[in-house]
Amino acid sequence: MTKKAHDLSFKKIKHDLKEIDFNLTKNLLKGEKLFASPGGKIEPAPVIPASFEESKEAQDIKSHGEMLLSQGKVAALVVAGGQGSRLGISGPKGALPISPVRHKSLFCLHAQKISALEKRYSTRIPFFIMTSRVNDGATRKFFKENNWFGLKSNQVHFFVQGMLPSVSKKGKFILSRDGGLFMNPDGHGGVISALKKSGGLDIMSAQGIEEVFYFQVDNPLVRICDPLFLGLHNMQGAQMSSKVIRKRDFEEKVGVVVLVDGKTTIVEYSDMKDEDRYATDDKGKILYWAGSIAIHILKRDFIETLTNDVTALPYHKAIKKIPTVDNDGKPIEVDGIKFETFIFDALPMTRSSVTLEVKREEEFAPVKNKAGQDSVQSAIDMQVNLYRSWLKKAGKYISPGVKIEISPIFALDEADIMKLSPEIPDRIETDLYLE
Ligand code: UTP
Repeated sequence: MTKKAHDLSFKKIKHDLKEIDFNLTKNLLKGEKLFASPGGKIEPAPVIPASFEESKEAQDIKSHGEMLLSQGKVAALVVAGGQGSRLGISGPKGALPISPVRHKSLFCLHAQKISALEKRYSTRIPFFIMTSRVNDGATRKFFKENNWFGLKSNQVHFFVQGMLPSVSKKGKFILSRDGGLFMNPDGHGGVISALKKSGGLDIMSAQGIEEVFYFQVDNPLVRICDPLFLGLHNMQGAQMSSKVIRKRDFEEKVGVVVLVDGKTTIVEYSDMKDEDRYATDDKGKILYWAGSIAIHILKRDFIETLTNDVTALPYHKAIKKIPTVDNDGKPIEVDGIKFETFIFDALPMTRSSVTLEVKREEEFAPVKNKAGQDSVQSAIDMQVNLYRSWLKKAGKYISPGVKIEISPIFALDEADIMKLSPEIPDRIETDLYLE
């Protein structure tokens, strides 16, 4: 190694070492009690069915959620620190073009939904964006270059999640290929400590925020700050609530909302025993059907209580191939252990929690894979299908194969389209973008 390269590595290693919580790392290496243990008696959780939305009672509850929005008590928070490894992209996943006609990015769609909600409820909704050390700079640059997608720059709050060192199976640190130590983002559960450390929780508190609408960056159909969900959660005094969909089949790889020893819990697909995964109800249908779509509302003061203890959320470990170098500096991969925390592990710590079923075709089109299910193409198709269904409801004729995109600025939902119907042509025979 040349002197220069050696100096560089030394600097990086020193920097990485500064970031490591050695006590925590030591405990992770030996402390079983820090890890999630999926045992216990499992039962289906009570779920409010999707049909509830049509009921008379739902109107009052929705109005309550709308009131919270009008009063400026709600923040939106997106976790966007992931590495998008299945997609194989290098930049932030939120910068991925995803809308069907204008090819707007995921971040653009989210920001425009927030703008539209602000207009609808004459309010301000602060937008918190969790990044990681790897994509923070690129994410900020993307927002700046795009003029914060119409939001005010001072309402967009970026904060960086923590990193944890990956270790070899023998518990040793691993060199990264750039000369530092190999670290991985600490999982979406890292949002709790990152919000605290960055001062995000103080900003929320100073702005009178009581509820935090949490979502993942890769779902273009997310109904940000859904007032019905907000109303249900807040009126019940819930500390953390979740949206679920009916699982496609027994094997769909989503976490499932269940009761474990009477407590609302999300059990990861990989942690579910086969006898539970394939269990059926008396009609032969999937017993544990309530698939989590990683959309939650958390009370701000519940987040505060979670920050009091660095080990409040249990850790999960996964064996991963880690890119590193051998003694001669040649690139190799070794098996290593990666530690992460997951936000949904906070659920069993709540005194009260609401689980609301929603329709997949209306609210969940995650972009995870390069092709097939849960890919860019499937998310585009689902947006087109949803927008077509809104226009059909308004009595419009749409030629087969025509792509439709409805900007959130034009309409946020089917009800908006019904009101705006006179402005929309009755026959749509070519691709259409409505703004
Ligand atoms: P995923 O687990 O699907 O990860 O994250 P990913 O980065 O999008 O994709 P893969 O697994 O590497 O292919 C779900 C959500 O949680 C965020 C992601 O950005 C995404 O919005 N996340 C995940 C974080 O913010 N930080 C993490 O450490 C992990």
